[in-house]
Amino acid sequence: MRVRVPVFLRITAAAATVGALEAEAAGKAMEPDRQMNAIRRYPIIGAVIIQMIAALVVIALKTVLAGMIDARTFFWGALAVQGLVAAALTRALGLPVWWAWIGLLFPVAVYLALAAGSLPAWPFGVAFVVAYLFFSNTAGERVPLYLTNRTTAKALLTLMRERGATRFIDLGSGLGGVVRALDGDGRVALGVETAPMAWLVSVLLSRIKRRGTILRQDIWSADISHQDVVYAFLSPEPMPELYEKARREMKPGGLFVSNSFAVPGVTADEVWELDDSRKTKLFIYKVNGSQSRPAD
Ligand SMILES: C[S@@+](CC[C@H](N)C(=O)[O-])C[C@H]1O[C@@H](n2cnc3c(N)ncnc32)[C@H](O)[C@@H]1O
Repeated sequence: MRVRVPVFLRITAAAATVGALEAEAAGKAMEPDRQMNAIRRYPIIGAVIIQMIAALVVIALKTVLAGMIDARTFFWGALAVQGLVAAALTRALGLPVWWAWIGLLFPVAVYLALAAGSLPAWPFGVAFVVAYLFFSNTAGERVPLYLTNRTTAKALLTLMRERGATRFIDLGSGLGGVVRALDGDGRVALGVETAPMAWLVSVLLSRIKRRGTILRQDIWSADISHQDVVYAFLSPEPMPELYEKARREMKPGGLFVSNSFAVPGVTADEVWELDDSRKTKLFIYKVNGSQSRPAD
């Protein structure tokens, strides 16, 4: 029996084969570490490669199951296998969990878009604008919006209490959850955020809950000179420059805390590994008068 494979699966598989052949022909096998860094830095590349690999799995299954399964069943099975393999590979590569959801749902989304025929364009336009207003820093700063979890916010509170710190700033405060969690009981918490919708939502929530202050300000122009704890949950990209800003501007003994992303070439004074599902690491640097030193 002939089983029809959806067009997009054929295209991705063909692209995967061509890509592999090109790489082989050029003799340009990247070292695994560099490859992984590139994928973590540009997850979209990883996501495309992963979909191609998943498509190859589907094609292999098609060959194995030829004549054993009817076309309709195979088609739905193929969508499920494509999504599940993509999600599993995404997690195996260590990409954030929301990329796994994208990988899982992508085949179905493509099918629905193709099956829907001619849709009006405006819902896509509106969705794009809303997404842009939340995620506008993804393109420029390479920092998407993802949020500090409750365990990490509690750890930051413990840190502030332990060190007698009262002034806190979240550089790139997203929806402001950390700022609201830390403000109060003698602590003053501030957040700066430039993505318009994230800023608006966080300002409204802070006003409603009367906790914390959110400014529409770029992290690079934020005044951190009076802060006891400067917190950032960004990406690997801005870390070297941000650490330099902390060293230049923070008062002696201040703590620069980065969630998940260490400052390259600098050994943190402390690393807290938290007991949450993602095993969050807080890299703590005591800047100015610090023991933070170049990594060995
Ligand atoms: C990963 S989210 C973290 C949100 C929040 N700090 C938290 O932990 O829940 C990073 C945030 O930084 C913001 N951001 C990135 N670059 C920025 C910049 N140059 N100035 C202000 N905000 C920025 C993004 O818009 C995003 O909301």
